[in-house]
Order: sequence, then structure tokens, then C-alpha cells
Amino acid sequence: MSNIKNILLNKITCKSIWFMRQAGRYLPEFQKIRQENKDFIKLCLNSELSAEITLQPIKRYDLDSAIIFSDILMVPFALGQNIKFIKDSGPKLSKFDLNLFLRSNEKKFSEKLEPVYKAIDITRRKLNKNKSLISFIGAPWTLLIYMLDLKNSKNEIDAHKVNETKFDTLINVLIKYLCIHIKNQVNAGADVIQIFDSWAGLVPLNKIEDYCYFPNKKIVEFCNKERIPNICFPKGIKKRYEFFNKIVKPDGINLDPDINPKWARDNLKDVVLQGGLDPNILLKSDGEIIETATKYIETFKDIPYIFNLGHGLLPETDPDKVGKLVKFYRSF
Ligand code: CP3
Repeated sequence: MSNIKNILLNKITCKSIWFMRQAGRYLPEFQKIRQENKDFIKLCLNSELSAEITLQPIKRYDLDSAIIFSDILMVPFALGQNIKFIKDSGPKLSKFDLNLFLRSNEKKFSEKLEPVYKAIDITRRKLNKNKSLISFIGAPWTLLIYMLDLKNSKNEIDAHKVNETKFDTLINVLIKYLCIHIKNQVNAGADVIQIFDSWAGLVPLNKIEDYCYFPNKKIVEFCNKERIPNICFPKGIKKRYEFFNKIVKPDGINLDPDINPKWARDNLKDVVLQGGLDPNILLKSDGEIIETATKYIETFKDIPYIFNLGHGLLPETDPDKVGKLVKFYRSF
């Protein structure tokens, strides 16, 4: 086993396992805390509890990395938008106010997120030195989906809203604040940054360079300049993963379930591969889980690969199945 910071920096072939959305959702020990803390944003701003939630899956499964309990929407929150989580319909943000957004300043932004940095500091002190602590951001396009309420429940983009907004300005301002958030998280003790572009698959194709490749590249360039190990996740862009990888050049790239593992091995070069396993598989029988996991482990056995999923663990996942999968991976 090796910590993923080392795998990403040195591109070594080594075993390592963690799961996206490992902290929260499906864990009864999280649900207990969640029930007593109805306001999700407030919970993310409770440094002690956030650290405790971050460590829950490590205590249960002894995973190789922890991912800080926070949310990609903490950035729009720190830039002035109020956020409510409505059960079964997801996050709802207060109406975007361009003037308020442009009036944000770095000092106020960092101050509002101070509890997140404190949670990272507490976690890093409690976490075994051999394990990496992952922090994360949402990529600008994915954040703007929520900030401007760009998609409907059928996951269709409101092209009119995209065209009438000063998108390029918004993306550039977001890049600036996201880099500040990355730096602050690393200063607090984070070892690796994952950049979630969960809705990259919804970028209009004639805008994929501007709204997906360009912002991810800028952020990765910032990480490289600061020597911060980074993993990109441009979910849903299909064969464009290859262009994305060549243009953005992240240290690591997370595969989604649509990406054929053999295709990824043959076409994504000079990058550490991560994940890919469909989280829905974990709702199936033990046999099916092991069969699919084996496909990924076998395909990537000779190249740098971090075992993970193709998207976050689902709320209805049975925690025992996660435990069995970790055990199987370790014994392989
Ligand atoms: O991975 C982890 O365990 C760390 C914590 C983490 C959360 N959100 C906690 C959370 C991470 C890495 C995220 C990332 C995130 N948040 C993404 C990118 C990854 C992805 O899943 O696509 C996105 C798009 C969001 C925005 C968001 N936050 C949504 C759409 C929702 C509601 C639905 C849900 O549960 O995903 C959230 C809420 C949220 N973020 C919860 C948790 C544990 C559930 C809160 C609850 O208990 O109600």
C-alpha cells in the first residue's frame, strides 16, 4: 500500500484504495450526526464534527486516504450565495447576484472558509502519517450549474441562460477563488486536491474547450506551480477524456463508469488512473461486485492505478458491502 500523494508525484505502480463520497450519506454513524445537525452548511462549518465525519470511514475500513468532509458548494457560499439542501431534490442556491459576486474579496472569502481549514488541520493531526488527506474543489462549470441554476431535473442545460451571462468573466473570477481555496486547504494540511467537474458531460460541445478544458488546465497549472498533487474528474465527457488528459495534463484522472478500462489503459498516457467502478454495482450481489472489481484491478495491474469508483458511493449502499470490497481488494 502506498499513499496516493507518492503515487501521483512519482507515477509508481502501487496499491491504494479510497472511495468518492466515503464520508457521509450511507454510513449510520454519519446519519446519527446528520440528524442532530439539520443545517448541512453549518455542519460543514463545524470543524470538530467535520473532522470526526472525515475519519469515520477510515476507522471502519482502514482506507488509504481520507477525503475532507465539506462540499464543493462551500465556495459559492463564501462568495455570498445562501444554500439550502432540500431533501430528495438537492441543493438550492439563492439567486445569483453578479455585483455581490464581483465585490467579493480574498480576505472575506478565506475568513468565511476558515472552519473548513481548521477541520483539515484537526484531521491531519489525527490521521496516520502514511495516509493522504484529500481536499477538493468543484470545477467552475460544475459550480456555475448550481450558482446560476443552469439545469433542470432532466439534466438539460438552459442554453439561453448560458448565452446571456458573462460566462468568461465568471469562470475567470471563480478560477481565482478556487486557487485561493486550494492553497488555503494545502496550507492547513491537505496532501492532494481533487477537482470535481461532475457535470462536464453537459457542457455544450462547441464550448468544451472554454468551459471545461481551459478552467481545469488553469487550476492544474496552479497546482503544478505550487507542487500540489492533483486529480481531475471530468465526468461524462466520453472519448474526450483523451483530449482532456493531453490538454490539461493532471497528475491523476478519475474514470467514470462509461469509460472502458482497456480503452483508458491504452489511450490515457502519462497520468495516474483512478476509479471507474460503477457505484450501482455495490447495490448488487457479492459475486457481481467482485467480478466487476476484478476487471478493473486486472486491467490496471501493471500501471499506476488508485482503486475507487466512477462516481460517489450511493446513499443506499450497504456499508458491509463496502467493507467486503476493501477486503477483496487488499487480498488480491
Ligand atoms: O467524498 C466525501 O465523502 C467528502 C465529502 C463530499 C460531499 N460532497 C459531502 C456531501 C464531497 C467530495 C462532495 C462533492 C460534491 N458536492 C459534488 C461533486 C461530486 C459528485 O458527487 O458529483 C457535488 C456535485 C456536490 C453538490 C452536492 N452536495 C449535492 C448535489 C448534494 C445533494 C445530494 C447528495 O447527497 O449528493 C450535496 C450534499 C452533500 N454533500 C451530502 C454530503 C455527505 C449529503 C448531505 C445530506 O446528508 O443531506
